[in-house]
Amino acid sequence: MKRELLNRIYYVGVNDRQKTLFENMLPLPYGVSYNAYFIDDEKTVLVDTVEQPFAEQLLAHVQELLAGRELDYLIVNHMEPDHSSGIKTLQAIYPNMQIVANAKTIEMLGGYYGIREGFHVVKDGDSLNIGSRTLQFHFAPMVHWPEVMVTYSIEDKLLFSADAFGCFGTLDGAVLDTELNLDKYYTEMVRYYACIVGKYGAPVQTALKKLGGLEINMICSTHGPVWTEHIGEVVGIYDRLSKYETEPGVVIAYGSMYGHTEEMAEMVARGAASVTKNVVLHDVSRSDHSYILADIFRYKGFICGAPTYCGELYPNAATLLAKIKTRGVKNHEFGCFGSFTWANATAKPFEAFAEVMKWEITGYVEVKQSMTAEQAEALYELGRAVALKTLEK
Ligand SMILES: Cc1cc2nc3c(=O)[nH]c(=O)nc-3n(C[C@H](O)[C@H](O)[C@H](O)COP(=O)(O)O)c2cc1C
Ligand SMILES: [Fe+2]
Ligand SMILES: [Fe+2]
Repeated sequence: MKRELLNRIYYVGVNDRQKTLFENMLPLPYGVSYNAYFIDDEKTVLVDTVEQPFAEQLLAHVQELLAGRELDYLIVNHMEPDHSSGIKTLQAIYPNMQIVANAKTIEMLGGYYGIREGFHVVKDGDSLNIGSRTLQFHFAPMVHWPEVMVTYSIEDKLLFSADAFGCFGTLDGAVLDTELNLDKYYTEMVRYYACIVGKYGAPVQTALKKLGGLEINMICSTHGPVWTEHIGEVVGIYDRLSKYETEPGVVIAYGSMYGHTEEMAEMVARGAASVTKNVVLHDVSRSDHSYILADIFRYKGFICGAPTYCGELYPNAATLLAKIKTRGVKNHEFGCFGSFTWANATAKPFEAFAEVMKWEITGYVEVKQSMTAEQAEALYELGRAVALKTLEK
């Protein structure tokens, strides 16, 4: 879509409604947009590109806006291929464009695409005058790659923020937050953050503090809506998530083959629901793990249950725990429960997990074959105890 945002700054991104799994892992029920921006000043500037299969679409917009002029600069804020794989196509058409990049970006441009010249090298805090406006580059390492920088247009009070404040969901006919129903974008922002940025809470906090001094009226991220009136909300979401701040509530994720562990999960849920309405039950073999992770980033309580499987934890539950570990999720109230028929092997992996996560185990209940009335009571108590802890400050 080509669309003027303000003062001859144009949205020139694309909607991807074909990809089923982002990073070949995360479902895209609403698709995803790759956002790029064109600045028409004395110099002509493109900010980021799009994924390669969409490069032609991007080029068509850029060519139309250039109307025969040269493209002077391409600013590369982030090298993940969803934004950088279009660069080769662009460079073939505009061989004289200067690629505005930092040292880490340049190393990656060489490694990925064999691009070794034509750079305008920038350091943290550098600026570039392009005519009526000055662009300033602020490095934001590990949000969520090491080379990431954001570009601030001083005169427009506009931040090109790379993936920060981005979310899944195509832009259906409109681009600005004020023109879109934002419900799905907010929930998809939490899932995007939890799965992709989740591990890097500390770098996100550093970036937020660093950018805190800038007056920002518009945030142009590389995915999802352009933020104007709702900047406060999205910065708030990033601030909370990166501090691992959560709401009272409990996510119960269980695996079950024949229903015994599921029955246990139901008892845990009843206990938790006696304390709070925020109880979410996920079957680890049915719910896509990206949604479970998003809920874990939202709620303070997490209780996991699994059967013993070939002397180990039920694999789909083990996989979920590995994904939580990968994200380095902090500050959770944790409980667990396991089932078995001849030799229980659930206690140890749960303990090992809690240790790595530095989470205290509020309680653990194990059941051989089927649940007794006492065990049902203990599971109810486990749900209740974890839920109560999530209410504490
Ligand atoms: C493929 C398979 C492997 C299993 N491996 C073990 C095991 O190593 N040790 C054990 O005590 N029970 C094992 N079990 C039994 C289950 O852990 C036990 O039946 C549990 O209650 C199943 O819970 P569910 O009804 O929620 O699926 C295994 C069951 C299956 C189907
Ligand atoms: Fe990225
Ligand atoms: Fe991205």
